[in-house]
Order: sequence, then structure tokens, then C-alpha cells
Amino acid sequence: MTIIVTGGAGFIGSNFIYYMLKEHPSYRIVCVDCLTYAGNLSTLEDALENPDFRFCRINICDREAIYHLFEEEHPDIVVNFAAESHVDRSIADPEVFLDTNIKGTAVMMDACRKYGITRYHQVSTDEVYGDLPLDRPDLFFTEETPIHTSSPYSSSKAAADLLVLAYHRTYNLPVTVSRCSNNYGPYHFPEKLIPLMIANALADKPLPVYGKGLNVRDWLYVEDHCKAIDLIIHKGRTGEVYNIGGHNEMRNIDIVKLICRELGKPESLITFVKDRKGHDMRYAIDPKKIHNELGWLPETKFEDGIIKTIQWYLDHQEWWKTIISGEYQDYYKKMYDSDSSAN
Ligand code: NAD
Ligand code: DAU
Repeated sequence: MTIIVTGGAGFIGSNFIYYMLKEHPSYRIVCVDCLTYAGNLSTLEDALENPDFRFCRINICDREAIYHLFEEEHPDIVVNFAAESHVDRSIADPEVFLDTNIKGTAVMMDACRKYGITRYHQVSTDEVYGDLPLDRPDLFFTEETPIHTSSPYSSSKAAADLLVLAYHRTYNLPVTVSRCSNNYGPYHFPEKLIPLMIANALADKPLPVYGKGLNVRDWLYVEDHCKAIDLIIHKGRTGEVYNIGGHNEMRNIDIVKLICRELGKPESLITFVKDRKGHDMRYAIDPKKIHNELGWLPETKFEDGIIKTIQWYLDHQEWWKTIISGEYQDYYKKMYDSDSSAN
């Protein structure tokens, strides 16, 4: 069994590679990643020592290189994580989101059609459903919730989802789609809420909370997401969408306060900054379908997962300090200086 994992040098893709190498030691895993600012080869250091693992620096929009790789590897399964993934960057500069998230997805599926595979899996997001109001805690996203996107990022992911489902109907490509809530855990890029707050708190820097910090996200430990994808690619029904989430809704402000408490830092570091444009209020997944059909349930409780995550960032300071010492500094200044966040 050979699996191509795109975007495997990023946060969730790398966790998925380590998970699959551990759970399926007989599989060959081929990582395709062009190493954008969000991709790190150092993240895959341990995997690179495994003879059943191969890394290929390829852009998923590069049709010729992707076709060539399929001719070499004859993959059975493709799992497409590769994407521009940060909402704030999509607000500042949408174009690359359209290229990678939509055109790149089409190239990967065209290769699957041309060479044949048993499964193409699209890693999507709950953001395609838009948001829910704070005063209706009874409402959740199901697979039937209409697509209703807010940002260029979520719109590009929704466009890709529609394309994937269209390739199923039109060409009978054996596809599945998963839409997951916010992940947290090791190797999370420091531009995202949880790692950003940990890194800033450790440096006694201001903790920039957008708006009033009342927005709600449904947090899932990354390994639980990896387990869900493993189940879907082996047992999920083709042509189907599966929502993934663990009923773990938290307000941003409460997460930031929790991080302060765990690191012994004062809440006076919290700084309320200009809100993100079009900021989604609440995400909340109803995971009944994946539970009933595939028996998936989240295993890591947030109380445990967040402690493990904070400890991971304490133990791997070289990993994230290297990242934030480079061009990330320019991004950070542009995004957060003089209260210009999410411009
Ligand atoms: P990430 O930004 O950490 O990693 C993205 C990876 O894709 C990087 O390694 C990058 O180099 C690579 N990449 C980007 N453009 C590429 C291209 N054109 N060709 C090849 N490689 C390219 O992202 P993440 O947080 O790990 O998210 C992975 C996937 O999961 C995305 O599709 C995202 O939409 C989805 N998702 C993320 C979350 C979350 O909470 N992070 C939740 C639900 C779904
Ligand atoms: O729901 C799944 C999505 O989760 C994925 O599809 C995206 O790829 C992933 O980035 C994530 O999107 P969010 O926008 O929810 O994540 P982010 O970490 O950027 O922000 C989480 C919340 O925290 C959001 O309400 C904005 C807020 N925030 C974020 C940052 C970076 C702040 O208040 N301050 C910040 O500095």
C-alpha cells in the first residue's frame, strides 16, 4: 500500500505521517510538499530515517511533476492536506489560496483519474459552513448544513470540496471529504492562536486577542483528527462527507487565560486588538455520522491535550524559535503592529 500525503511538512499532515508510520508499518508513505513558509523539513526529521518514507519537494499545482511522481510511485491512496491554511493571510492576499487550494486540488484529482487510485481523500474544514450564532448553543454543523463561507480561505476550501464531489459524480472518482474543527497539538505553526499565545507568553510579549475574545472554536487534539482520517480512507463510503469534531467548544479569551495560568504568566499580558474582518463567531461540529458509521470518537480530553501541547512547546523551543526568527518577524509586524491586525 502506497499513500501520497500532500502538505505533510505542515501541522496536521506531519502528525498524520507519524501516525500512519506507527499504525501501518507495512505502508509506504510519500510526502509531497513544496515547503511554503508553513512547511518545515525539520518536522519530518524522524520520518526521513524510515526507509518506507519518501519526501518530494513538489508544488501540487505542478501538473507535470505530479504526473511524473504518480508514474514512479503508483499510489493506492492520496490524502490531500496541502493548502494555504491561515484565514488572516487569506484576507491580506487571497490569490495563492485560489491557486493551491482549488487548482492544486484539481491537479491531484486529475492525476488520480489518469493513473487510477482506490481512494482520493480531501482534508477540508468546518469553516465551509460559515458560522453559528453565540445565542443558539443548540445549533451544530451537520454534513447537510449549507455551504456559507466567510473568508477567502474558507471559500477556496469550499470550492475545492465542490470540485471533489463533482469529480465523484462526473468521473466516478472514489473520493471522500472530511470537514474538521480546529486542531491543536505538536508542530502547530506559531501564527495560529494556541502556539502564538504560548510563544508570546513565554517571551512576556502582549497576547493579541481579536475583538473581545468571545468567538468560539471547537478544539480537537490533532491525533484524533489523524485517527478519523485513517478510518475514513479505509472504511468510509466513497462520495461521502464526514464531519470531525469533539464537542469541545471554548471561547478564545478562555483559552488565552488558561495558557497564562499554565505558564504562570499574568493576564495583564492580554491585549485586545482590532477584530479580524468577517470574523466567524462560533464553530461547532455534530460528529454523529462518523461516530455511527465508523465508530470514531475523540480520545484526548481538552484538559489533557492542552497540557501535553504546552509541554511540547516547552520541550521543542528550537523548532518554533527557528521559525519565528526568520521572515515570520515581517509577517508579525505587518499583522500586529500599531493595532493593524488582520488588515
Ligand atoms: P499548514 O499551513 O500547517 O500546512 C500546510 C502544508 O501544505 C505546508 O507544509 C505547506 O508547505 C504545504 N503546501 C502549501 N501549499 C502547497 C503547494 N502548493 N504544494 C505543496 N505543498 C503545499 O496547514 P494545517 O493546519 O496542517 O492544515 C492542513 C489541512 O487541514 C489544510 O487543508 C486545512 O485546510 C485543513 N484543516 C486544518 C485545520 C486546523 O485546525 N489547522 C482544521 C481543519 C482542516
Ligand atoms: O476550524 C478549522 C480552521 O481552524 C482551519 O480550517 C484553519 O486552517 C485553521 O487555521 C483554523 O482557523 P481559525 O481562524 O479558527 O484559527 P486561528 O488559530 O487563526 O484563530 C482561532 C481564533 O483565535 C479565531 O477566532 C481568531 C482568534 N485569534 C487568532 C490569532 C492568530 C486571536 O484572537 N488572536 C490571534 O492572534
